[in-house]
Amino acid sequence: MDTQPRRVEHLQTDKGSVPVYTTTVVEQPWSTYSREDHATWAQLFERQRKVLIGRACDEFIDNQQRFGMTPDAIPKFDELNRVLKKDTGWELIGVEGLLPELTFFEHLANRRFPVTWWIRKPDQIDYISEPDLFHDLFGHVPLLLNSVFADYMQAYGRGGVKAHGIGAEALVNLTRLYWYTVEFGLMKQADGLRIYGSGIVSSKGESIHCLESPSPNRIGFDMKRIMRTRYRIDTYQKTYFVIDSFEQLMNATKPDFTPIYAELATCESIPAGNVLADDFVYNRGSGEGWAKGGDV
Ligand code: PHE
Ligand code: CO
Repeated sequence: MDTQPRRVEHLQTDKGSVPVYTTTVVEQPWSTYSREDHATWAQLFERQRKVLIGRACDEFIDNQQRFGMTPDAIPKFDELNRVLKKDTGWELIGVEGLLPELTFFEHLANRRFPVTWWIRKPDQIDYISEPDLFHDLFGHVPLLLNSVFADYMQAYGRGGVKAHGIGAEALVNLTRLYWYTVEFGLMKQADGLRIYGSGIVSSKGESIHCLESPSPNRIGFDMKRIMRTRYRIDTYQKTYFVIDSFEQLMNATKPDFTPIYAELATCESIPAGNVLADDFVYNRGSGEGWAKGGDV
């Protein structure tokens, strides 16, 4: 095996170009990583560790340290799994990249987290629009050691299997929730807003932008509101949603979503950058630098 992913196709969607890969679970081909691959890991790891001090939430930093990941080499899934399995019962599995929705949900529902086995190339250090090993390992895996968040991820997987059976619109609603929490969520800590979303913590630019830029909206978490809010995957977010705690996330998502999907089917979707009258606004974005109509 070489260190190129086996990409199946690119889907053009209203959110941008979305790559789709095979559903095969692969053994991490650790011995095939090149010196360049390990160097990419080292560079990203050291850079993000620094950027995230005072920016990522305490749960993220503390749990990441417990894994003992180092810049020296790309971590071995097997070694991370020893810590994970013992602690919260999660297990990492190697995959080629983004999975079809139902396959992804089924893994989560069984406490298996799919991790892309390949790492980005040096010219993608600053930005890559699809998940690679750095995003998945550095970004997602630490919070799987937090017991509340670990349960949220499993509940999300189960909810995904159910939504898949309900229909495409339900899936769109649920996917927005994942996007604005797991991938791009902020949390209010006693000492200010912090990051917990994996899509942010694996990006230097967005780690700074999401907290310090006057451009984006920062709005209090509101589940149904989020499920109506559009997004796109290839620019910084126009709006970030702020939770008080993982318990808040867990409690808000406990109810059966079936009637909620039915209710939302009668509501219009909300453009990514809009602020509504009922929003709890931490920051009303200046909108500077926003792509026009990009999420339509
Ligand atoms: N409660 C949701 C349902 O009934 C499932 C879910 C839990 C979704 C946690 C997201 C996060 O569908
Ligand atoms: Co991700």
